[in-house]
Amino acid sequence: MSYEFIDIKVEDGIAVVSLNRPKALNALNKDMVLELDRAFDELAVDASVKAVVITGEKNFAAGADISNMLTLSPEEAKEFSFRHTFNKIEDLPKPVIAAISGFALGGGLELALACDIRIAAPNAKLGFPEINLGIFPGAGGTQRLPRLIGPSWAKEMIYTGDIITAGKAAEYGLVDLAESPLEEALTLAGKLAAKAPVALKLAKQCINLAADVDQKKGIEFEAVAWASTFATEDQREGMKAFTEKRKAVFKGK
Ligand code: CAA
Repeated sequence: MSYEFIDIKVEDGIAVVSLNRPKALNALNKDMVLELDRAFDELAVDASVKAVVITGEKNFAAGADISNMLTLSPEEAKEFSFRHTFNKIEDLPKPVIAAISGFALGGGLELALACDIRIAAPNAKLGFPEINLGIFPGAGGTQRLPRLIGPSWAKEMIYTGDIITAGKAAEYGLVDLAESPLEEALTLAGKLAAKAPVALKLAKQCINLAADVDQKKGIEFEAVAWASTFATEDQREGMKAFTEKRKAVFKGK
């Protein structure tokens, strides 16, 4: 499928989704987010794709496109919110890594927060400047940020709207730092692509669930999910390979 505002390349089991609206610093307009939505539907069912990296060449994304939002009514604003697509990305049954250079602001940072792991260049700048527009993050930011870095730092970022350095974001635990985030993300994605996909998918579900349910319920869910890996060929292969002192070759079955 061809897209106007994103590019997708799949190589060696890794899909690289590049945001491609450089003149607007990759600001996310409605069509771009619809393209991401369709792309993630396809990536979810494409068995050749084992891991996904989201990136942008000079910038990750400088937020939702403000020009799309100037005159929205509250009903239209609810419709415009990117939450359904970002939830879909968070729920993708495969690992998703954000490789961040330049700006990751507002909706752009919310997109990164929907990913499993964020790797940022030292020059990256992150923040939620929405408060300066008379709004606040509306695509998962107020929910995912405090869960990731704690409510105090999350409130400081969201209330002030300050743009912080990648170094500060790393201190918060919001990102990992790398000189070349895309290279680092591809190396990590390659490593993950060789793991047992069903076990990875279930581990992701369990970890994501931990944000939503109390610990005992989470542990019960984990037990069921964990036990179900014993119905896979990959569990047999992984343990057999250990006893035979060789590297396991997983098939995703
Ligand atoms: N929406 C629309 N256009 C944007 C944009 C955005 N979020 N961010 C940047 N652009 C456009 C600029 O309008 C400009 O376009 P023109 O050349 O046509 O004028 C172009 O990108 C380059 O931007 P600047 O000239 O402003 O570049 P700069 O280096 O001087 O500043 C910046 C960079 C600090 C990121 C600045 O562009 C900026 O403050 N952008 C807005 C950031 C923001 O407020 N993001 C939150 C949006 S709201 C949101 O995301 C809601 C939500 O929760 C879903």
